[in-house]
Amino acid sequence: MGAHSESVPVSENAGGESPIELIEPMEVTEAVADAAAPEREIDVAVGDDLVEVKNLTVKFGGLVALDNVSFTIKRGEILGLIGPNGAGKTTCFNAMTGVYKPTSGQVLLEGGLLNGMKQHKITRAGLARTFQNIRLFGEMTALENVAVGLDARHKTSVVGALLRLPRHKAEERSAIERGMALLEFVGIAEHAGSLARNLSYGSQRRLEIARALATDPKLLCLDEPAAGFNPAEKEDLMALIRTIRNDGYTVLLIEHDMKLVMGVTDRIVVLEFGKKIADDVPSVIREDPKVVSAYLGEPEDDFA
Ligand SMILES: Nc1ncnc2c1ncn2[C@@H]1O[C@H](COP(=O)(O)OP(=O)(O)OP(=O)(O)O)[C@@H](O)[C@H]1O
Ligand SMILES: [Mg+2]
Repeated sequence: MGAHSESVPVSENAGGESPIELIEPMEVTEAVADAAAPEREIDVAVGDDLVEVKNLTVKFGGLVALDNVSFTIKRGEILGLIGPNGAGKTTCFNAMTGVYKPTSGQVLLEGGLLNGMKQHKITRAGLARTFQNIRLFGEMTALENVAVGLDARHKTSVVGALLRLPRHKAEERSAIERGMALLEFVGIAEHAGSLARNLSYGSQRRLEIARALATDPKLLCLDEPAAGFNPAEKEDLMALIRTIRNDGYTVLLIEHDMKLVMGVTDRIVVLEFGKKIADDVPSVIREDPKVVSAYLGEPEDDFA
């Protein structure tokens, strides 16, 4: 995701200091979904392997942040990636999306090797992500931020189209339509013209998801998208994630709130000290003694 390398973090901390705004439950129509991603194949069947992570290892000096981790992500599923603080979840995302070069191992998307590709090439190949610490262009509007995501898929600059450069006139309407459809999809269309830095924390989180969706990904990776949310906002966000999946996307979700993860995912991979310690359906993970013991010492409300 080349654009992200130049982006300015709007909020470094998921502390939820900005005023929280309740978002009306959105109505997602097929028209909105089509406008947002016209070329996407809709296939919600949980089926073949979309992504394979094979023996992935990431070392930082002497620290093994990710230790020989393997798992698959099936097309159409919501896979949870959980584990205590420092377990290696974000490192796994970073290695998959080209932010870090894996020390060893492979990441395959539909059988094609992603290792060694630049971030924007990985985005183009179909892997999009959000960040644990929100990264948005604070001085650009919500719609322009989404256009950056759309840009990752287009040959000509959609940002240019929004800024009304003459050579982009032809694409202008479709960029605005698609951007607006995505903002509507995540429930923040009314803020399309607001600068990203002026959005509430909750809207910023949703905007990040819209921008990632704008790249029309095969896999959407969300790194603690509900961090700093109150329970009602978390429920709303989980509903949005389900809608995203039902609309034909595959989702990899890092989330610290165990109750949420259990409620929304089809399967869960558990990391502890960089190693995979479990990989199963939520009902089995919940009873797994290794998982329960990994979470001992974590705040009680994390494991419910
Ligand atoms: N760029 C880096 N340089 C050095 N060490 C790093 C770097 N990134 C992560 N680490 C270390 O790797 C380990 C795993 O970190 P990571 O951020 O992946 O954990 P996490 O599971 O996402 O935790 P959290 O739940 O706190 O977000 C930690 O010990 C962390 O300090
Ligand atoms: Mg993390």
